[in-house]
Amino acid sequence: MPDLLRTLLDRSSVGPRHLTGPAPERDEFLLVATAAAAAPDHASLGPFRLIHIADATRERLADVFAAAALEAEPDADTKTIDKARERALAGPGLLAVVVDLKEHPNVPAEEQWVCAGAALQNTLLALEDLGYRAKMLSGARVRSKALRSAFDLDENAHLLGFIAVGRHQGEVRRAPRRLPEQVLSEWTPQEA
Ligand SMILES: Cc1cc2nc3c(=O)[nH]c(=O)nc-3n(C[C@H](O)[C@H](O)[C@H](O)COP(=O)(O)O)c2cc1C
Repeated sequence: MPDLLRTLLDRSSVGPRHLTGPAPERDEFLLVATAAAAAPDHASLGPFRLIHIADATRERLADVFAAAALEAEPDADTKTIDKARERALAGPGLLAVVVDLKEHPNVPAEEQWVCAGAALQNTLLALEDLGYRAKMLSGARVRSKALRSAFDLDENAHLLGFIAVGRHQGEVRRAPRRLPEQVLSEWTPQEA
């Protein structure tokens, strides 16, 4: 089987609690970003961005996650807030994923979302090819005022979520996949 297809079929998300360090180095993240930029992109609008959350800024992100939790539930107890904070601190490496929708006469928003999806997949595959495991995570908090403001998003920008990345030893728990026959069918022309 060709190497790329093998990497693609082996890809499997691993959650931050099961990841260990080290996180990718900057040059590896740059390679990953190069892979993301290789996604099909009608009119080269570049609707996808990755933002690295450095270790030194994780606590600041935890504060923002706590603020988002309070925004959703103003009476949230300490346990809920602590859990929200932990989500920002889990996983050796963390990337925020932002989709910037542009106005274009020939490229509707749905095409730009598809471009972002392809860029996300390239990102995950590149991380796996470099020997890491990763998982894309979102949650309602990504639409919170606290997070939108922390990432300085304008009205056309969406925080898709976060990619946790690190090393993983041993077996992975594989998500079910559909059979090829469930994905591929033959077109039957409809009678006029
Ligand atoms: C945009 C996006 C957001 C996601 N958000 C979550 C999430 O918040 N929590 C979660 O458990 N899985 C989430 N997932 C799904 C996982 O990242 C993962 O794809 C899923 O567990 C299936 O595993 P697999 O990638 O190995 O097929 C999200 C996927 C995408 C594409």
